[in-house]
Formats: sequence, C-alpha cells, structure tokens
Amino acid sequence: MIHARIIGTGSYAPKKVLTNHDIEKMVETSDDWIVERTGIRERRVCEKGQTTSDLAYEAGHKAIKAAGIAAQDIDLIIVGTLTPDTAMPSTACVLQSKLHAKKAAAFDVYAACSGFLYGISIADAFIKSGMYTTILVVGAEALSRFTDWEDRTTCVLFGDGAGAAVLQRHAGKRGVLSTHLHSDGNFGDLLHIPAGGAAHPATADTVERRQHYIKMKGNETFKVAVRALEEVVEEALTHNKVKPEEIDLLIPHQANLRIIQAMAKRLNMPMEKVMLTIHKYGNTSAASIPMALDEAVREGKVKDNDLLLLEAFGGGLTWASALIRW
Ligand code: UT7
Repeated sequence: MIHARIIGTGSYAPKKVLTNHDIEKMVETSDDWIVERTGIRERRVCEKGQTTSDLAYEAGHKAIKAAGIAAQDIDLIIVGTLTPDTAMPSTACVLQSKLHAKKAAAFDVYAACSGFLYGISIADAFIKSGMYTTILVVGAEALSRFTDWEDRTTCVLFGDGAGAAVLQRHAGKRGVLSTHLHSDGNFGDLLHIPAGGAAHPATADTVERRQHYIKMKGNETFKVAVRALEEVVEEALTHNKVKPEEIDLLIPHQANLRIIQAMAKRLNMPMEKVMLTIHKYGNTSAASIPMALDEAVREGKVKDNDLLLLEAFGGGLTWASALIRW
C-alpha cells in the first residue's frame, strides 16, 4: 500500500512578540477579555521588511533538514497562504527560488485557515497517483499586514508564522490515511478581505475605507465552525473506522480555545491529547496546524505509529480534516 508519509517538519515564528497588554494600548480591549474569549495571551508579528516567503523559507528549510533530504530532491512545493508576498508571482515560487529547489513545481493554495490541510490532501493525491515522490507543504502567513489595528474585533486574534512538512512516497502502512475537504462559498462574507482583488481593485477610496483588511463576523463564524468541524471529524473517523479513543493526538486549527475545547469534549478527549499553541501564537491561519505539528514532534509528543487527527476551518468558507498514521 502506497502512502504519503511526513518525513520531516519545521516551523518558524517571528521574534517580535505582541502581548495582549501591548494591544490594550492600541484599541479598547483587555487582557481578560481576550484570554477569556479566545485563549490568546500573545502573538508574533513580522519585523519590518519580513514577508510571508521569509517565514515559509525558515520553516521549509528546517523541514527539509529534518527530513534528511536536499532541496533539490523536492518535486513540488505547495504553500497555503491568504497573505501572499504579492498577487503574482505566487509565494510558492518565491520560496522555490529561496530554497534553490531547482526541479520543484510550485503553487499556492488559497483556502485560508484550511490551506495546509488542502495542501496535504493535494500532496497525498499527487504521491498516490505516482506523479511526484517528494513534496514540501507549507502553511505561512503574515496576517499582521492584513490586520486592521484599529478594529478590536479582529486585531486581537491574529498572528504571523509558518510551518512545513515534507511528504514522501512510502510503501507501507504509515502516512496520510485520509483527507476530507469541504467548502461553502455562500458564507464567504463571514470572513473576508473586501478589496484588492479584481472585484474591488485598490483605489484611494478602498484604502480610505479600510477595505484591504480582514473583516470577520466572529460570532456567526464561530457557530458555523463548531458545526462544520464536528461533521468533518465524524466523517474522518467513520471513513477510517476509527473510534475517538484511538486518536493519540488532536492537532486542531488554533482559532479559538473554546472551539478547540468543544471539539475535545465532543470526542471525549482529555486536553492532554490536544496540541495547543493559541496562547502564544494566536490564530496564524494556514500556519497554525503545521506549527503545532512541528512543536508536537519536537516535544516528543508524537511517536511512531501514533494516530493523529488534524482539523481546520477558515475563510471561504473552507474546512478539512486529515488522519495520519505517524
Ligand atoms: O480562523 C478562521 C475561523 N475563525 C474562527 O473560527 C473565529 C470564530 N470566532 C471567534 O473566535 C469569536 O467569535 C471571537 C473571539 C471573534 C469573538 O468572541 P464572541 O464571544 O463571539 O464575542 P462577540 O463577537 O459576540 O462580541 C461580544 C462583545 C461585543 O460587545 P456587545 O455587543 O456585547 O456590547 C463586542 O463588541 O464583545 C465585544 N468585543 C470586544 N470587547 C473587548 C469584541 N471584540 C472585543 C475586544 N475587546 N477585542
């Protein structure tokens, strides 16, 4: 049986820390409100001049090293991001150049917070089809550049960072067992960036009206997220005939501690079996799962043959799961 197996992970968070107390000085909010409603205590933000591809490079480089391969061995680079360096070229192409991954094809996946799992799914399909052998999947975001630092309903939530995984063809039982991807564009306006695309190109007016920043109807998004995540997790378990108690580690997208706790409760899973990074990184969108995965690996929380459940939800709307035999 052919599987796409993760043979190396890496992650990177910019050094600059922004605490809730720092944000208290910028908008009318409080550390208590942010911690209670989200679980976030601090987040990292890019230095001036640092870009999404810089973060992706750091994470990708570490993943390649951990995998024990050379950048020239990579057949394909997939970057999940909603904060590309530029509209063109893709961040994946910028990364391909920075890594000197000479033979790799490269493209971005635009699925917001589900971007990494969408990337894993694509990599899995390419590897199973025989088209590629070694694929680098990265989730990288410079959300601070698209955050309205005058809007307290969003600016307390997001952070910057990147995580990466090298997947390779494996003839055996370990690797990606399943992925499930979903979307519902009818809910697109719950979480979006209104201007800067073909619908509303940048003008002085769009800038004046702060239309280039992330807008979110948080409470409505929350409700859809909980329902969709419950469904996608159920789908993964049923598809693989796996019981919740067989999961060794849940690695959820880190958007809100309350959403994560609701999912753990639903699965009857103790919080010790759930990876949490939200307190220190906030919501890093496509980067959150690979950052948490890499941390789990580095902290020795993942052992050979462990069963890992990854789940994500984000703008689009999009949501997804991956079940992995480590
Ligand atoms: O990653 C992609 C997917 N994203 C998500 O899944 C995020 C889902 N949503 C959430 O995590 C939560 O909805 C939020 C954390 C964004 C908001 O929490 P909430 O419990 O849903 O609060 P709310 O939006 O219903 O707002 C409650 C109150 C409001 O005041 P009133 O109208 O009750 O007087 C807000 O104006 O809290 C107020 N508020 C704040 N107060 C202090 C909103 N933001 C803040 C703030 N500081 N930063």
